[in-house]
Amino acid sequence: FPAYPTLLTDARGSILTITVNRPDALNALSSKVIEDLEHCIGAVSEALTNDDGAWPVRGVVITGAGKAFVAGADIREMTDMTPDEAHAYSSRMQQVTLAIEQLPVPVVAAVNGFALGGGCELAMACDMIYAASTASFGQPEVSLGLVPGFGGSVRLPQYVGQALARELLFTGRRLTAEEAHNAGLVAAIFETVDDLLDGARNTLELVARQSPAAVALVKKTVGQTQGLPTRDGLKIEADAFRQAFTTADKAEGTRAFLAKERPSFPGR
Ligand code: CAA
Repeated sequence: FPAYPTLLTDARGSILTITVNRPDALNALSSKVIEDLEHCIGAVSEALTNDDGAWPVRGVVITGAGKAFVAGADIREMTDMTPDEAHAYSSRMQQVTLAIEQLPVPVVAAVNGFALGGGCELAMACDMIYAASTASFGQPEVSLGLVPGFGGSVRLPQYVGQALARELLFTGRRLTAEEAHNAGLVAAIFETVDDLLDGARNTLELVARQSPAAVALVKKTVGQTQGLPTRDGLKIEADAFRQAFTTADKAEGTRAFLAKERPSFPGR
């Protein structure tokens, strides 16, 4: 994967790390960053659309350069935006968050520092949020006369429940890494940023030992069933279960178990 003007990319084995690299502005999501994310996530998606069983990427880590993960939408750029331009800006980044959710491999947000506004929203579009002990989270839009524009009003209640989400959205109060962990926003906390990146990659290495087809299917199912009535979600799950039975990975996984061997998944 190429580097982009505002992003660094680092592929180690099948794990791709994307680093938002605008540290002078605490990695704020300018239109250029959003465009680069759009292209980068698009390239990952394209690399994974072959059905020949090749999985050049098995997991993605998103992190930030310097002391912030992402300190939000770009406040400087927003000063001169018309309402229609703001709508386009919001919609474009929302599409990026959907593209992350639609990748067939897990994405871990490795939150190394401030994840505020659009930064918290970018993290919440990922499958898991891991945090350094110095990380903080919040939706401070109301302090600027703004509202969340990249999914915060929708995804924050899904992560932490209505009560805390509304408190955070109405007050702009920040959560420490520990509070975010206790609230269910963060899956794991690491002492240092190096440990954080190792932890994110280790989890994705573990994922890479599983069936790629099954991981993609379960990611899709979890995404599709959130917020649905149980009965409707269960129907989608049964369809996914059926689909698993059409894969070569299922044949290999169950065969290997019974033969007491390690599976060698075809990836289809
Ligand atoms: N947009 C543009 N520039 C930003 C920025 C942002 N969101 N956040 C920080 N910066 C810039 C600062 O302007 C500053 O630039 P200069 O050096 O040119 O002055 C530089 O990054 C460093 O920032 P600070 O000096 O403020 O650093 P700090 O350590 O004192 O404070 C901070 C850190 C508490 C994160 C503070 O920068 C801050 O509050 N940032 C804004 C956070 C915020 O409100 N985010 C929400 C944005 S709105 C949004 O995201 C809407 C949406 O949902 C779509």
